[in-house]
Amino acid sequence: MHTSLNSGPAVASSAPYPAITVDCQNPQHALLISQNLSGPQGEMTAIYQYMYQDWILSALHPDIAAILKRIAKVEMHHLDIFGQLVSLLGGDPRCQARPNVYRSAWNGNMINYTKDVRKILSYNAFMEQTAFDTYMSQAESVQDEHVSAILIRIAQDEKIHIQIYQDLQDMV
Ligand SMILES: [Fe+2]
Repeated sequence: MHTSLNSGPAVASSAPYPAITVDCQNPQHALLISQNLSGPQGEMTAIYQYMYQDWILSALHPDIAAILKRIAKVEMHHLDIFGQLVSLLGGDPRCQARPNVYRSAWNGNMINYTKDVRKILSYNAFMEQTAFDTYMSQAESVQDEHVSAILIRIAQDEKIHIQIYQDLQDMV
């Protein structure tokens, strides 16, 4: 596992993020990216998921809890980028899941509330893999090189998160 100066593994790629810009407004792209923001498996869910786990694990597994909080901050950076993209693409970055199907607020039922540390780590690895696969497939499908570059860069962070959760599973 790579280590960084602020103790623990590096929780984000060292590569810079591309400029947050788009070729042109595009409602389909806006809808696609809005799901990364506040869909059931989006960044909003990831942030609360990791904060919840941090609170649950802080007493018995303080080292893991600290890593979870650091990863949650990376997911908030992703949330910020996706929100800006939805706006630039001409969409409305509301915190609503599936706005194309029905109006539904993002909600706390999207969180997995298991308190078992092994289940937490395997679930997180699975969710990060899902995020990585989603962003890479979106990067291939969108007809906008700026949006593709941003998706690929964010996917690199998720790849690091997969590795962290896999490594931690071997340590508990
Ligand atoms: Fe992640």
